[in-house]
Amino acid sequence: MTESLPCGETSATGLPVHLEGVEKWYGGRRKEDRPALHIPSLHVHGGEWLVLMGDSGSGKSTLLNLVGGVDLPDTGTILLGDRPLNRLDERERTLIRRREMGFVFQFFNLFPTLSVQENILLPLGLLGRKDPFAVRRLLEEVGLSGMEHRAPSELSGGEQQRVALARALVHRPRIILADEPTGSLDHRTGTVVLSLLRRLHREYGPTILMSTHSREAASFGSRILHIRDGEILDAPTAATS
Ligand SMILES: Nc1ncnc2c1ncn2[C@@H]1O[C@H](COP(=O)(O)OP(=O)(O)OP(=O)(O)O)[C@@H](O)[C@H]1O
Ligand SMILES: [Mg+2]
Repeated sequence: MTESLPCGETSATGLPVHLEGVEKWYGGRRKEDRPALHIPSLHVHGGEWLVLMGDSGSGKSTLLNLVGGVDLPDTGTILLGDRPLNRLDERERTLIRRREMGFVFQFFNLFPTLSVQENILLPLGLLGRKDPFAVRRLLEEVGLSGMEHRAPSELSGGEQQRVALARALVHRPRIILADEPTGSLDHRTGTVVLSLLRRLHREYGPTILMSTHSREAASFGSRILHIRDGEILDAPTAATS
């Protein structure tokens, strides 16, 4: 394993995330309805790996989309560090997403017509940055050396998710949002992907918010929150690993 990830001029540490009085209503606010998400207060420490668990429809993706600035809450404030994400304009939110966030999805979301190398370089390209060594070193990190010219369709699901991890990390984001990153992988492959994420997390300490239906996947995090009907149920519990 190399000593550090490529492309980092500074050693990024995770940004704290704070939600206060956040509600998300889909399709209008009617008295008989409940919001898809209602979070009176939630603090995620910088460098923490927070896991969201809950039934389908409980609000996990909604929460990740709000923290990612992909969607906006109807009420409340979402702070990234001291910046109120939902009060910034779309341009500023886009810049924050590009510079400071990495996204990992259940179905990998690689661009099928781009090679592995081109997929991984996308976040750097959007920032107008170049690093000819980034891909090779990152592929080494995720155990896929020599595969830079393949198309995503020429990789297994686990390999595609490792490419997606490399793409999420290439610009050293301070926040990683992972929505069911092992949801379409078998158990063994899922463990490989999460072990890799754990290694990279230990190496440079981004804040991670990850949703999952799997207890075992959840044990990779540092704190588990259970969500039901858009509300955080419990006092925070420590993950077991
Ligand atoms: N764009 C949308 N328009 C309308 N309703 C939505 C939209 N996105 C989500 N919802 C609703 O909000 C609630 C929370 O959905 P969300 O996708 O956050 O659940 P989830 O916990 O991620 O579920 P899953 O485990 O199936 O991914 C659900 O009732 C869902 O139907
Ligand atoms: Mg979801």
